[in-house]
Amino acid sequence: MTSTEKYKQEIAAHLNASPKQISLYWKGRVGLYALLKAMGIGQGDEVILPAFTCVVVPNAILYLGATPVYVDISDDHLNTTFAHIKEKVTPNTRCILVQNTFGLSSELDQIAAFAKDHSIYTIEDCTHGFGGTYDGKPNGTYCDAAFYSTQWNKPFSTGVGGFSLLNNQLLEQRLKEVNQELISPSLKQRKTLGMLIRVRKFMLHDSTYWPLLRLYRSWSKTGAVVGSSTATELETIDLPEGYFMASSSEQEKVGIQSLKSLHEFSKLRQKSGLIYNEFMRKHGQWNYPDSVLPNHSFLKFPVFVKDRTRFIQKAEKAKVRLGDWFLSPIHPVTANYELWQLDPHQFPKAEFYSNHILNLPTDSKNTQKVLRFLLDNMDELISWEK
Ligand SMILES: Cc1ncc(COP(=O)(O)O)c(C=O)c1O
Repeated sequence: MTSTEKYKQEIAAHLNASPKQISLYWKGRVGLYALLKAMGIGQGDEVILPAFTCVVVPNAILYLGATPVYVDISDDHLNTTFAHIKEKVTPNTRCILVQNTFGLSSELDQIAAFAKDHSIYTIEDCTHGFGGTYDGKPNGTYCDAAFYSTQWNKPFSTGVGGFSLLNNQLLEQRLKEVNQELISPSLKQRKTLGMLIRVRKFMLHDSTYWPLLRLYRSWSKTGAVVGSSTATELETIDLPEGYFMASSSEQEKVGIQSLKSLHEFSKLRQKSGLIYNEFMRKHGQWNYPDSVLPNHSFLKFPVFVKDRTRFIQKAEKAKVRLGDWFLSPIHPVTANYELWQLDPHQFPKAEFYSNHILNLPTDSKNTQKVLRFLLDNMDELISWEK
């Protein structure tokens, strides 16, 4: 069996799916692009998406000439709601993208049923949610399709990487044809990714974590190493050269290995997430309502701070590894929003939350250290009564 077949088989087993439903890509965003293309989405079509996402999501829509239609998020769970999505539907709506933010999807059953009734496709952005469930079913199995990421800090990692799950059989042939256009990663790209995966082991230590993170971020900005996003993706809406790329056998082999510890990490994340939620509630901070907790896989736990720079500095001193996802409604872009057809002021909740958000780690065995740090810095958090 090839690494491609084995990897697809392992992924499919976690999703109660068949390996035939899985496609592998160099990054998760490539999977989204392939799915949209297979759905025939293009010029004049509208795709609904949250105004609290990663810029590569509207990019995939714009590369195909379609129009992103943003929806604000809810105070309750930081996801879009069915009611708000419905308001944005027009005769040109071809697809609704729902996001599993930090490991939580919301109102999926209602959204998927409504979309089906109106002949609108649905895609679940499960980049945060592999291994978790929604109403007892694996994340990604409610919509016509889903895409997942295996980039750094995702439920399991292959450095960069991603895959898609297709649930709508009518799209099978079309996706197969689209996937035939995938190019292969170059030897240099495969080698640098392999090197980064090896170096990453050193980031397990607190003494090297912050210096290496800074180095990686500055190198990936210049394109010297395989980074999360290229300058073309962050500064333009032009399809970058070499974007539509297949996975490499190196990613597949690392993926097969990393999947072995997924279950253990998923359990740890859920446990930590529930501990943080209880703590935040007790201290009058933003927290999730009980009703959504069973569906949350807690890849990260959001906190809202008054001064982000100061809080990050304090966390580094206390050796607490914070994440900084969704620093803007189309993370990490903070300028020229009009290129992405976004006016952030139209989305006051997404704008407010992205101005104050940081994320707590849920995969650390030492939640007590994080809680101590929070207790020492309660005056830095925005107090919140629901
Ligand atoms: C919400 C969301 N969607 C899509 C992506 C893109 O995933 P990838 O980096 O694998 O392309 C990310 C990346 O982290 C993300 O956070």
